[in-house]
Amino acid sequence: MEINKTMQDALNKQINAEFYSAYLYMAMSAYSESINLPGFANWLKMQAQEEISHGMKIYEYIFSRAGKVILDKIEQPQTEWKSIQEVFNDTYEHEKKVTELINNLVDLSREEKDKATELFLQWFVTEQVEEEDSADEIVQKLKRVNEDPNGLMILDAEMAKRVFNHAQNTETK
Ligand code: FEO
Repeated sequence: MEINKTMQDALNKQINAEFYSAYLYMAMSAYSESINLPGFANWLKMQAQEEISHGMKIYEYIFSRAGKVILDKIEQPQTEWKSIQEVFNDTYEHEKKVTELINNLVDLSREEKDKATELFLQWFVTEQVEEEDSADEIVQKLKRVNEDPNGLMILDAEMAKRVFNHAQNTETK
């Protein structure tokens, strides 16, 4: 069944939100690079790729329901932060906002009685649990390190290990 206009518009908005997330994480990655934390920069770059894959998942879904994809302009993200701690505090807060957006989409799919979209969105509901959890984990680790240069170096090396697998649209941490 063709997707209805209300649901289609809301999903198009979410594509924009996912691409904005990618843009935000790329800006954070650039900032991390500028303060000589290449491992954190890598993690954030992988996160940006993951966000693009989220956007593309919705993009493909709209087509599979004979809908129209409309790409809007992407807002400019923040470019400076006070510290790497602040970057990850913001990451965690941002993911909580994205979770809210996903939950609102689920509510809308129920209002519209669009079972296929409701089911499609379940993947995102689960994904957001993971997204919040991994951001919070890094926030906690950074708090423990508390700007200690040695601890930060060890953490940076850990963050350097994250890779993104394009073929499977998955990642390993
Ligand atoms: Fe696409 Fe980080 O949620």
